[in-house]
Amino acid sequence: MHNDIEKILISKEEIEEKCKELGAQLTQEYEGKFPLAIGVLKGALPFMADVLRHTEVHLEMDFMDVSSYGGEMRSTGEVKIVKDLDTKVEGRDLLIIEDIIDSGLTLSYLVDLFKYRKANSIKIVTLLDKPEGRTADITADVVGFQVPNEFVVGYGLDYQEKFRNLPYIGVLKPRVYGGE
Ligand code: PRP
Ligand code: MN
Ligand code: MG
Repeated sequence: MHNDIEKILISKEEIEEKCKELGAQLTQEYEGKFPLAIGVLKGALPFMADVLRHTEVHLEMDFMDVSSYGGEMRSTGEVKIVKDLDTKVEGRDLLIIEDIIDSGLTLSYLVDLFKYRKANSIKIVTLLDKPEGRTADITADVVGFQVPNEFVVGYGLDYQEKFRNLPYIGVLKPRVYGGE
């Protein structure tokens, strides 16, 4: 375990198992369709790769880079597009892929944007859901794990751009972010 990690919340094996399960579920839900899978950079990258590996329908992949946190610990409430999609959304069945829903601001912004762009359907799949953090009215269609209101990193989730490459989800030691 990494020295800055207090405890492992979700192990590599548990994540692998969950990706298989969710992939099978998405396979059923999108049978006969050609969804556009949208990864929200950068956090969604490992989860997107692993869950879609187990989603056995034809699909298209695209990416959107939206930033709401900057370098801050808490969301500023401001969402900005850093990189937009290359693909047209109109009439498409969208599957938005996220690593975590916290305040919900990132996703509520994206859902509004894709509705405005006339998507045929919009589903959200997230590996982690932190319900206690929610300020926006948004729920995911498919959730891997619920997490408590702690500072979680790893498997795509960062603290100041670090820890995304950990193969598990862990809780950060408070001293790393200047807590006690
Ligand atoms: C993080 C995370 C989600 C979002 C969740 O991304 O990956 O995308 O915040 O928070 P919210 O529900 O409060 O909006 P971040 O903006 O830090 O960018 P990153 O994925 O590049 O780390
Ligand atoms: Mn993100
Ligand atoms: Mg981040």
